[in-house]
Amino acid sequence: MSGPRGFCIAPSLLAADFARLGEEVQQVVAAGADWIHFDVMDNHYVPNLTVGPAVARAVRPFCRRADGSRVPLDVHLMVQPVDTLAAAFAEAGADLISFHPEASGHVHRSLQLIRACGCRAGLALNPASGLERLEWVLDQLDLVLVMSVNPGFGGQAFIEPVLHKIEAVRRLIDRSGRDIRLQVDGGIKVDNIRRAAEAGADTFVCGSAIFGQPDYRAVIAAMRRELAAAAALPEAA
Ligand code: DX5
Ligand code: ZN
Repeated sequence: MSGPRGFCIAPSLLAADFARLGEEVQQVVAAGADWIHFDVMDNHYVPNLTVGPAVARAVRPFCRRADGSRVPLDVHLMVQPVDTLAAAFAEAGADLISFHPEASGHVHRSLQLIRACGCRAGLALNPASGLERLEWVLDQLDLVLVMSVNPGFGGQAFIEPVLHKIEAVRRLIDRSGRDIRLQVDGGIKVDNIRRAAEAGADTFVCGSAIFGQPDYRAVIAAMRRELAAAAALPEAA
């Protein structure tokens, strides 16, 4: 992680050129990506289909900076059921694995399984989902993923009321005193990343905003400037 307050920028490969995936990962890592976000869709839980563990295994060697340090591979499962694929992605080299609680018959068991595989575990909240799914599993969580679009597609518009949910999740995490990252995913751009940070997010998934531009480094640098401005604000009382 890097940047003020440990902000992480996690480019989503969903918007990358799939014919040149290794090269795209290399370029976005060289441009300053903190994590690589890997969206997995099954045409069942969400109405779209992407890639599986074999592709995660293929891109993992590219998740490395010039100095040799690792860039975490952040797998976002939009699949139902969860457990078999979670184990397969752990085996393929994922560092973090998030899933949607509606897609798992036994949320606590799925979180335990992910951690037992040596990965950090996250729960993803859809735009219409409340915080109640988090309350009794906080001790099993390393990350809360707040969806700011409906899962299934890149390039959608940011859903503004989600900012209030980010504030609420931030309060929950802070009250817990636990080391849990707060990730926002969907429609994040240079012009709204600061507001997401001010609401309490610390990890920012950006697909089309980065891969849709010719100069990944320039976009990430502009995002970091916005995040630095957010960090410079006095902490809320
Ligand atoms: C949507 C995915 C997102 C998506 C974000 O279901 O979870 O990670 O790639 O793409 P943008 O940043 O284009 O909204
Ligand atoms: Zn995602």
